[in-house]
Amino acid sequence: MSAPLIALEGVHAYYGASHVLHGIDLRLEPGACVSLMGRNGMGKTTTFKTIMGEVRARRGRVDVLGRDGTRVPTHAIARAGVGYVPEGRDIFPNLSVAENLTMAARPGAGGGRAWTLERVYELFPRLAERRGHWGDHLSGGEQQMLTIGRALMTNPRVMLLDEVTEGLAPLIREEIWSVIRAIKAAGIASIIVDKNVGRLIELADRHMILVKGRVVFEGDSDDLAADPDRLHALLGV
Ligand SMILES: Nc1ncnc2c1ncn2[C@@H]1O[C@H](COP(=O)(O)OP(=O)(O)OP(=O)(O)O)[C@@H](O)[C@H]1O
Ligand SMILES: [Mg+2]
Repeated sequence: MSAPLIALEGVHAYYGASHVLHGIDLRLEPGACVSLMGRNGMGKTTTFKTIMGEVRARRGRVDVLGRDGTRVPTHAIARAGVGYVPEGRDIFPNLSVAENLTMAARPGAGGGRAWTLERVYELFPRLAERRGHWGDHLSGGEQQMLTIGRALMTNPRVMLLDEVTEGLAPLIREEIWSVIRAIKAAGIASIIVDKNVGRLIELADRHMILVKGRVVFEGDSDDLAADPDRLHALLGV
């Protein structure tokens, strides 16, 4: 088995005195697609922040592309090859689409530049059409596409996608799901948080469900689909 890109072992994390993650174990293998599910407030975003070093694990091991995520700064984790698409949209409103993308551009950790402006425009024809528009003149869906495009321009080995289809019109959501499929097909490993369990079952190789900062389920899509009552109890779907 090849070395995992991300390995969390027994991770505990806090906001001040509030104990939020209670011993999380998580592994992401090269090229794999893992879903991270759970109701509101269960610790999904905090898990991503802990991977990025934005929240420091107080106990446990955080290994991200060979870096010790409990010590190195967030920008070093990003630079090592983790494209993080946080909840909410992370673009520069007073720069054009093209400027937003080019300013994010950098070679991957191995020097690769597979993701260019042209390739991002191919993936998001809407962004190509809007290339001269300012960030704040885009629709919510276009801003979300731009956020994902910016992460791809860093030529990442891993993408962390936190509710990237949230609050978007159905057609735009489907466009985003096709992009997520393309990201997977391109061999970029990913961890996806989303409310659409059906899409996650189709797309992800492995699923994890969090309840109050603990992993209560881990399995493949067949395991997940095998027990709808449990799924309902854990996720409310
Ligand atoms: N900055 C913060 N300060 C204090 N508590 C926080 C902070 N951010 C999150 N929390 C709390 O930590 C817990 C986990 O939050 P987290 O954002 O990781 O959940 P989530 O699973 O991503 O939820 P959602 O589905 O609502 O995005 C929640 O109880 C939340 O209220
Ligand atoms: Mg969240």
